[in-house]
Amino acid sequence: MKGCFSIASGAWSKWLSDLNSGSKPELDDFVLRNIVFNIVENLAPSSGDTVVDFGAGDGLVTFELAKAVGSTGRVIAVDKSAECLQLIEGRCRKRGIENIEIVQSSIEECPLPPSSADGIVCKSVLCYLEDMQLGVHKMLEILRDGGVFSIFEPLLGESSLRGGKGAPPAEFLAMEDRLKESGPPRSINREKVRGVFAGEAQDFESIIVHYRFSFEKMSLEEIVKVYFFDLPGELSAYSRLVECGYDIKELEKIISEFATWATDCRAVYVIPCIFIYGTKSG
Ligand SMILES: C[S@@+](CC[C@H](N)C(=O)[O-])C[C@H]1O[C@@H](n2cnc3c(N)ncnc32)[C@H](O)[C@@H]1O
Repeated sequence: MKGCFSIASGAWSKWLSDLNSGSKPELDDFVLRNIVFNIVENLAPSSGDTVVDFGAGDGLVTFELAKAVGSTGRVIAVDKSAECLQLIEGRCRKRGIENIEIVQSSIEECPLPPSSADGIVCKSVLCYLEDMQLGVHKMLEILRDGGVFSIFEPLLGESSLRGGKGAPPAEFLAMEDRLKESGPPRSINREKVRGVFAGEAQDFESIIVHYRFSFEKMSLEEIVKVYFFDLPGELSAYSRLVECGYDIKELEKIISEFATWATDCRAVYVIPCIFIYGTKSG
């Protein structure tokens, strides 16, 4: 399990730039824009606000927030990856953006003062926190009373594959169960995420949206990439299965049978995702 959290930080910056430049097949631009739009809508920041983007990555949400808070507001991008933050800095310089600040830190040890933010966001990061409760506690500590939180998380533990005809190969299904039992990020479900916010005694709303990725127009190679090499390095399904003791030859056979099935059946990969938002009560 430990390997899940020790991924080299540089891997995220490359993965994120590929994703956001559209050179990765799994998420289309429309889905990403829809997610970012909803995060910012749920936060509804005012001009002049100070907003923190926890686990900002290469700034997908950060730059939208910077527009929303305007020149009198500021956005603080927190991430533990120096490479990711350099990407944000580079873009700020290129575009002449002056209302984004960066803080290189883990969320758990973030040095920002308590109650210093009017709003906080966190997209696709919760499942990488070693202690999700502690991470969320820390984020909420930095939010002022009456400030708004807007969080988004894919529920990889609830993902499923739907085929046009016939179920996926049995060995593949057994492998998927094993993957989900192997802990975060693939064990994350709505109960866990809601439980963490309830544990902070916060009232919140949550919406589940099912994002669907059709394998129909993808090549076999792309399908394998999307499913088995979905996340960078040791977080990928492939690395996790090897860690779980899967023999590489056996794994290759399962992968190839799965990819053939997915193409024949025009399979759809469904990932439920949760939006959580609310106002901090003291
Ligand atoms: C899947 S990416 C999401 C990036 C960005 N929020 C987005 O959605 O485009 C996860 C990000 O969280 C950062 N991260 C993971 N664990 C973290 C932690 N404990 N503290 C701060 N950042 C963390 C990684 O460096 C990476 O940039």
